[in-house]
Amino acid sequence: MALFMSKSISGFSKLSKAKKIDWIVTTYFSNSEEARTIIEQYWNTDAKIQQLHDEFIENTITNYYLPLGVAPNFLINDKLYTIPMVIEESSVVAAASKAAKFWLDRGGFKTKVLSTTKIGQVHFIYHGDVHKLRAFFKHIKPQLLSDTASITKNMADRGGGILDIELRDKTKDKKGYYQLHVSFETLNAMGANFINSCLEQFAKTLKDGAKSFELFSDEEKKIDIVMSILSNYVPDCLVRAEVSCKVEDLTESDLISGEAFAYKFIQAVSIAEVEPYRAVTHNKGIMNGIDAVVLATGNDFRAVEAGVHAYAARHGRYRSLTHAKVEDGIFHFWIEIPLALGTVGGLTKLHPLVKLALELLHHPSAKELMQIVAVAGLAQNFAALRSLTTTGIQKGHMKMHLLNILNQCGANEMEKQTLTEYFKSHTVSHSAVSEALHHLRSGPGVSG
Ligand code: MEV
Repeated sequence: MALFMSKSISGFSKLSKAKKIDWIVTTYFSNSEEARTIIEQYWNTDAKIQQLHDEFIENTITNYYLPLGVAPNFLINDKLYTIPMVIEESSVVAAASKAAKFWLDRGGFKTKVLSTTKIGQVHFIYHGDVHKLRAFFKHIKPQLLSDTASITKNMADRGGGILDIELRDKTKDKKGYYQLHVSFETLNAMGANFINSCLEQFAKTLKDGAKSFELFSDEEKKIDIVMSILSNYVPDCLVRAEVSCKVEDLTESDLISGEAFAYKFIQAVSIAEVEPYRAVTHNKGIMNGIDAVVLATGNDFRAVEAGVHAYAARHGRYRSLTHAKVEDGIFHFWIEIPLALGTVGGLTKLHPLVKLALELLHHPSAKELMQIVAVAGLAQNFAALRSLTTTGIQKGHMKMHLLNILNQCGANEMEKQTLTEYFKSHTVSHSAVSEALHHLRSGPGVSG
C-alpha cells in the first residue's frame, strides 16, 4: 500500500540538493525535521570534500559511513603490511589481525600472481554462411586493431593493450550467436573504461566493415550487434596466496595438538569442497577479508564478487576457494582466486581515503594489490576455520557484537564498561544484554 501512497516525481535529478532533500523528507518521513537532521549530520564539514562525494554518483543527499579499520602485522613475501579494511561486520578486522600475527611468527604469507588477462566481448547475431564470416573476420582483424590504435596507444606504450581477438561461434548455445572474444592486459588499471571503449570501436568497425564485404549477401551484410562489454569473469587474472608451517607449530594452545588441529582444519576445508551449502558460507568468510580491502582501495567489489563466485563454480559445482593439505609433516593452506583490480584510475586519485589506503600499502601495483587482497581472504578463512573447529564462532563473535548491542540499547560509557566486564563470564545474547542493562539501571546491579 505504501508504494501507492508515495508520490512519483519527474525532473528529480534536475532539482538542487536542498530541493531533493525537501522532497524526500516531506514525502517519506513522518518526522521530516528529524530525517533532515540525520541527513545533514552526515555531511562533511569541508565543502570541497562534500562536493567530491556529491559528484561520485547522481542524486546524492548525504554520505553513508562505514568504518575503515586496519589489520597490522601481515608479512607478505617478507614485506610487512598494515592492511586497510572497510567493513561493517564486527570481528572481521580482529580476526584478520590475529591470523596475521599467527603467521608472522611462522614465515608469513607467500604469494604469486599467476596471470593478469582480462576479457571483453562483442556479442552479435549473424544468420549467414559461417565460412564467409570467418573470411570476413580475417579480413577485418587488422582494421579492428588499427581503428582502436588511438585508444590503446598509451596502454601499449606501457606494455599493455589488446592481446588477442578471436571470433567465437556460439551457435550451439543460441541460433546465430557469435562473439568477438577479446583478451586485454590493462597493467595497473582495472581497465573497465579502456576495455569497453575498445569493444565499442570493434563493434562499429565490424558493423561498418560488413556492409562493404563483397563475399556477403545483402542479408549477411546486416550483422546485428547486440552489445559490447567487458566480462567480470576473469579466470585468467589469477593470484595465489599460501601459508605453511610444520604441523607441530600449528597450535598455540595446550587444548589441541598440532596434528589434531591440522586434521580438523583439513576436514573443514574438504567439507567446503564437496558441500555447496557449506562452501557458500566458507567463501563468504573469505569475501569478508577480500571485499573489505577491495572497498578500502576504491575497487569495484561487485565485479570482484561476481567473478570470484563464478570461479568457485567453474567445474559445475560451487566449491571452496581455499585448499589445505599436510605433506611431509608440513601443513599447507592456500587460495587461488581471480581478482581484477586497479591501483590507478577510478576512485584511486579522487577519494582521499582511498589515496590514504593505497599509501598505507606502499602504493602497490595492481599485481601487488592482488596479492595483498588474496592474503586478506586467506587470513580471514584461516581465522574463521580456526574458531569454528576449536572454540566455535559465537564466543569471539558475540564478544565483539556486545558493543553493538549495548549501543543499540543506549548504554552510556559507565554501563558499557560494567557490562563488558560482566559478559566476560556470561553468554552474550540480545535479551541477556538488555536484561542485564535493565538490572543495572534499576538498582541491584549485575553480579556473578
Ligand atoms: C561470518 O561472517 C563468516 C563465517 O560464517 C565464515 C565461515 O563460516 O567460514 C564465520
